[in-house]
Order: sequence, then structure tokens, then C-alpha cells
Amino acid sequence: MSEINLLDRYPRSCRDIASRAAAVADQREVAKRFGREYFDGDRGQGYGGYRYDGRWVPIAERLRDHYGLAAGQRVLDVGCAKGFLLHDLRRVVPGICVAGLDVSAYALGQAMDDVRGSVVRGSAERLPFASRAFDLVVSINTVHNLDRPACVEALREIERVSRRHRYVQVDSWLTDEQRAKFERWQLTAATYSDPEGWRRLFREAGYGGDYYWTITE
Ligand SMILES: C[S@@+](CC[C@H](N)C(=O)[O-])C[C@H]1O[C@@H](n2cnc3c(N)ncnc32)[C@H](O)[C@@H]1O
Repeated sequence: MSEINLLDRYPRSCRDIASRAAAVADQREVAKRFGREYFDGDRGQGYGGYRYDGRWVPIAERLRDHYGLAAGQRVLDVGCAKGFLLHDLRRVVPGICVAGLDVSAYALGQAMDDVRGSVVRGSAERLPFASRAFDLVVSINTVHNLDRPACVEALREIERVSRRHRYVQVDSWLTDEQRAKFERWQLTAATYSDPEGWRRLFREAGYGGDYYWTITE
């Protein structure tokens, strides 16, 4: 288990904190449905257009190199949305077997063609997969959307279905200023903490995989 940033090649977002904060109270409810409004509606209630642009390619390469991913291995993305990371993993590791799960019927309906048959609708706290089914399970900016008991269950499930590696990234902060920005900006998170609180939660869940933080700058 180690703290490691495997999204260090993800482009920094330009979140307009000030304008988002004004809208947040009204739009959290809409965002939490994880429907079209969240992914492809206006920026005040989510991504403001979640389109494939290749930004996951360097992350897929980073995962491949760090975990030694190779043809024939199996990777699960919990909270896969439209399957962009899965698509890029297939690109950078020819022959890899991918699977994805997401709660959003909308996002899955928009999944990229090559992964559409490999994604299922479900919730992270109950993964419909056999124990030790995957060489790598990743979950990026997803389990913090569950309330605390469900978040613990989701981490247990990630642990259960992995036979080797797991990587989880969640909302957190390192400074009071980052915390304040996060709390003003965030739309969907239900469980969040400083890194120490997350480590306690990981221990409670028996989560032994790698992890890192999404910090609102
Ligand atoms: C911030 S997005 C992250 C999507 C993708 N992992 C990424 O990093 O671009 C959060 C994702 O979590 C999904 N999600 C929210 N609650 C979930 C749950 N209980 N189980 C599975 N997925 C969930 C949403 O539909 C959405 O796709």
C-alpha cells in the first residue's frame, strides 16, 4: 500500500471556483443524479461536457508502466463513466482485458464503442465480479461520492475483486485553503477528509491498495 500520484500527467483543471460556488447550492442535487446534466450539461452542475480528448492516454501509460500491465491481464475501472480510461488502456496495452462499472446509465449509454460491451451498471459498494478476478482495480474520483458506510463497503469490494493491484483516488486537501475551496466547489462528494482521515477509513475497510488525492487548487 503506498501513497503515489498516478494521475500526475493528468492536465490540471481550470475550475472556475468563484462562479461555481455561486451556483453550487442549487445544482448539487442535479449533479448527484449523474445524468446528462452532470456530464454534458453546463459547467455549474458538473463537467460541462465530458468528451474524449485523449487526456487519459498518459494515465493509461503510467498505470501500464507502474503495474507492469500486459496482454491477457484484467483491469476493472470502478466509476468508469464513458469508458475513456478503459479505451486508452486498450490502446496502450494491446490485448488487455478491461471491465468497467458505473452507476450512471447516461454515461454508460455514451460509452466508447470498443468498451461498450465491457461496462455494466451498478454501484461500487456491490461489485458484480468474482473475488480476485482482476490484476488491477482502479477507482478515480468515485468512492467519495458514497456515504461513509457505503464508501467503506466500496473499498472492501475493490480489495475483494483484486488479486494484485488497486489504485484509488479521492477528494482531499493538504491545507486549510484547499479544504475551503473544495467545500465551496464540490458538487457530489459525500465522504471526504484530510489524508489522515482517509488512511483511517482505508484501515477500517481493510483496503491495502495504492491511493492518492484529488486536491482543489
Ligand atoms: C467525477 S466522476 C469520475 C469519472 C472517471 N472515473 C474520471 O475520473 O473521469 C465520478 C463517477 O462516479 C460515478 N459514480 C457515482 N456514484 C457511484 C456509485 N455509487 N457507484 C459507481 N459509480 C458511481 C459517476 O457516475 C461518475 O461517472
